[in-house]
This record gives sequence, structure tokens and C-alpha cells, in this order.
Amino acid sequence: MPKQIQSPAGPAHARILGVGGYRPSRVVTNEQICQVIDSTDEWITTRTGIKERRWATAEETVGMMSVSAAGKALAAAGIEPEQLGLVIISTVTHLAQTPSLAAIVANELGAVNAAAFDVSAACAGFCHGLALAQDAVRGGSAEYVLVIGVERLSDLTDMNDRSTAFIFGDGAGAAVVGPSDTPAIGPVVWGADGAQYEAIGQTFSWDALREQPELGFPALRMNGQQVFRWASYQMVPVAKKALEKAGITAEDLDAFIPHQANMRITDAMIKALKLPDNVPVARDIARTGNTSAASIPLAMERMLEEGEAPHGGLALLIGFGAGLVYAAQVVQLP
Ligand code: UT7
Repeated sequence: MPKQIQSPAGPAHARILGVGGYRPSRVVTNEQICQVIDSTDEWITTRTGIKERRWATAEETVGMMSVSAAGKALAAAGIEPEQLGLVIISTVTHLAQTPSLAAIVANELGAVNAAAFDVSAACAGFCHGLALAQDAVRGGSAEYVLVIGVERLSDLTDMNDRSTAFIFGDGAGAAVVGPSDTPAIGPVVWGADGAQYEAIGQTFSWDALREQPELGFPALRMNGQQVFRWASYQMVPVAKKALEKAGITAEDLDAFIPHQANMRITDAMIKALKLPDNVPVARDIARTGNTSAASIPLAMERMLEEGEAPHGGLALLIGFGAGLVYAAQVVQLP
């Protein structure tokens, strides 16, 4: 028999202590998008709910946006960078295979005691990061965890593609997770349906450029209708299960913060979940577009800042996207 070793042990519960966001300075209206593609403000507004989005300037890199959002989240949480034991960044637009963006950002923040790695779970990335953060805190691997969702989707958008040019935006959102006396992050309901991997992806992978450099730079492509149907119908049971696992019903919610993919998907979910009319719903997509991993923390920050959702209230989060992958959980808002 080998000598018995110690198991890690952490506090019984974890919570979001603070959130922060970064919205790039450049506002891009539907009219500007329609100067390139054959579309109208009316079509984009009625089909998606998007009126404008933010596209990053050259200076607004994924690193710069992450550091800025993280700084706000740390300040809101009252936590110093040295107290972080882990930095998790969810992104699909850190355009270097290695090192991870998280290692770079942790260094820039001065998170000298933190492990750091990236997660690739597309638009479900923030909810994946949050689940990992809560497990790390409760498991005793880190006392405080920084979770960042950041994207520069404009880098991977073909501005001439009528099926995607109007939908994506850039930005970063961050949350600090730490110990809690009471339960404040519910069990995650997550999964992957890799059989639908072709529904959203790149026009071609980077290694295709070795054979055909004339291909240029890849872009995101999406079978919009397939994703729309999957998200509107298949995500409802996932959301219901997250409520059930947290031990609450839709009536107990103080906010619904789904991934900002399309306002019509949000509306379909509200109906299917029978969400009471008085529960505030994130509609940040109107001014921010679909920012993938950044959309939920950005929407959360805005709802708290504008007094739309109450501090300490219960919010249902659900992210879904390329993979296809999804993750949902109920959280107590910071
Ligand atoms: O964040 C990750 C997950 N992503 C999502 O959840 C996105 C899910 N999908 C969607 O949000 C929607 O599918 C889109 C917004 C991308 C597209 O909306 P849609 O209602 O599914 O449009 P559609 O592709 O079914 O096209 C409907 C019509 C077509 O015309 P006809 O055949 O009905 O005459 C298209 O040619 O709209 C036309 N159309 C456009 N018209 C003006 C397609 N794109 C455009 C456009 N402007 N940009």
C-alpha cells in the first residue's frame, strides 16, 4: 500500500464577487454594415434585434480588452491580482496557437500566483469558465478565480458575407469567483453535440494555408437556420434542467441572461420557459451584437449598472454555440 496522500479541500460554496466589461470604442451601425452587404437596417433589426455593434480598433486587442475588463471585475470584487489562484480565458479569437492568452493576461495583471489557461467553448465559453471556476474554488485548487470571456470576432468576419457580417461584435467581460458562506452558483448543465460540428466554424482551417496560401485569411461561417432551430428548441430543456438542479423555478428568477445570439432566440426561450413578464431579460445584443464568450458577462454588467437586475438576485445564464456546445447555471448576482 502506498502512503496515503492528502486530498484538496475548499469551502463548501462559491460565488461571483464582481463583474466588469470592456466595450470597444468604435460603434458600427446597421447602415454602415449595409454599405457593404445587400441588406437593410429593417431586416437586421427585425431578424436579430441588433441596431449596432462595437468593433475593436487596432489598439483594442484581446489582451488589452481582457486586462481592462478584469481590472473592473477585480475592483468590484475588492480582490488584488496577487490573490488570484487561477485565470481562465474563454475565447475563439486569440489568434496564436500558443502561448495561451490567459498566461499573457495574468502576467499583465500581476496575477503572479495564478495558474492560467484558455478554454475553447465558443459562445458557451463564459458559462464553461464559471463552472470550472466554481469547481476550482470548492475543490480547493484556487481561492479566487478570474474568468474572462473575450472576442474580436471582427477579425474572423467576412464583411462581404451576407449571412454573418451583421451579427458579430467585439468586447470582453470578466468575473471574479471566490468563496461563499451560502450557495451562489448552481450546478452546471452542460454538453456537446459534435455531430453538428459543421453548423458553425471557420471557412477553412489554418493548415489549409500551407497548401493554398492564396486562400487568404479565414472567416467564420454559420448555417444560421440550423443553429437558430437548435438554440430555440433544444436549449429550453437545458435551461429548465439548470433551474431544477438549482432547486428553483422560473418564478424565482430576478433576471434571465442568455447568450446574446439573436433577440428572436431569446424571445422563443422566454415563451417556452414561461418566464413571468416581470423578470428582466438581457437584451444587450441591440447595442453590442453577438460577442460570443463575452456576451453574458457584458450583459450582466450592463443590467447591474443600469439597475435593471438587482444585486444579490438570482439569474439564469445559458450559453450555446460552435461545437455545438452549451452550458447553463443559475447564479446569485454580485
Ligand atoms: O452565437 C452562436 C450561435 N449563433 C446563433 O445562434 C445564430 C443563429 N441564427 C440566426 O440568428 C439567424 O439564422 C440569422 C440571423 C443568422 C439569419 O436569420 P434567418 O431568419 O434564419 O434568415 P434566413 O437565413 O432564413 O434567410 C431568410 C431570408 C432569405 O430570403 P428568402 O429566401 O426568404 O427570400 C435570405 O435570402 O432573408 C434573406 N437574407 C437576408 N436579407 C437581408 C439572408 N441574409 C440577409 C441579409 N439581409 N443580411
